[in-house]
Amino acid sequence: MPATKAAQLKYIASLVAECHKCSLFKTAINHVPGDGNPEADIVFIGEAPGEQEDKQGLPFVGNSGKLLDKLLATIRIDRSEVFICNILKHRPPNNRDPMPDEIRVCTPFLKAQLKIIAPKIIITLGRFSMKFLFPDESISRIHGQIRNISWQGLPLVIIPVYHPSAGLRNGAMLQALQKDFLSIGKFLEKIQ
Ligand code: URA
Repeated sequence: MPATKAAQLKYIASLVAECHKCSLFKTAINHVPGDGNPEADIVFIGEAPGEQEDKQGLPFVGNSGKLLDKLLATIRIDRSEVFICNILKHRPPNNRDPMPDEIRVCTPFLKAQLKIIAPKIIITLGRFSMKFLFPDESISRIHGQIRNISWQGLPLVIIPVYHPSAGLRNGAMLQALQKDFLSIGKFLEKIQ
C-alpha cells in the first residue's frame, strides 16, 4: 500500500532537516519544511522563513503570517485546510533575498511536496514563488490573475499575489492584496 501523503511529506521534511546543499543550515536554528493539511486542495508558497519561523520551525508564524491569517479569514479559509510552505526551507541571514544557487538546490524539496500533495490550486506569495512557476513574468503585472497551467503533468490553477510583508510595509500593496484575496474568494465560491 502506498505511504500516506502525510508520511511522504514527513520523509521530505526529514531530508530537509539533513540538507547541507547550501550554507543556510549553518546560520538557521531550525529547518522549516512547511506545514498544514497533506490532503489540501490549496497550497500557499512563500519566500523563505523569517526570524519567528526559524525559531518555531513553522511557516508564516510571524507578522507576515498574522496578516496572512487575516487575509485567509476574509475568504473563510482556515490554515488547517491548506498547506503552507516556502521556496527556501532555511532562513537566509537577516532575511536577505534568496540567492539563485539556494533556490536551485532547495526547490527540489518544494517540487516533491507539490507532487505528493497534488493540489488543485497554488497561491504564490511574493515574487520568488511567482518566478518559480512563471520565470519570465513580473508580479506587478500578473498579481491577482487566475492562471491555468500544466506543471509536471499536474493541471494547476495558479494565483500569484504580493507577499504579505509588502502589505505590512505599504498601504497600496495591502489594498492590492485585499483585492486579490477577494478575487480568490470569488473564484473558490464559483468552483465549489
Ligand atoms: N515570509 C515568508 O516568505 N515565509 C515565511 O514563512 C515567513 C515569512
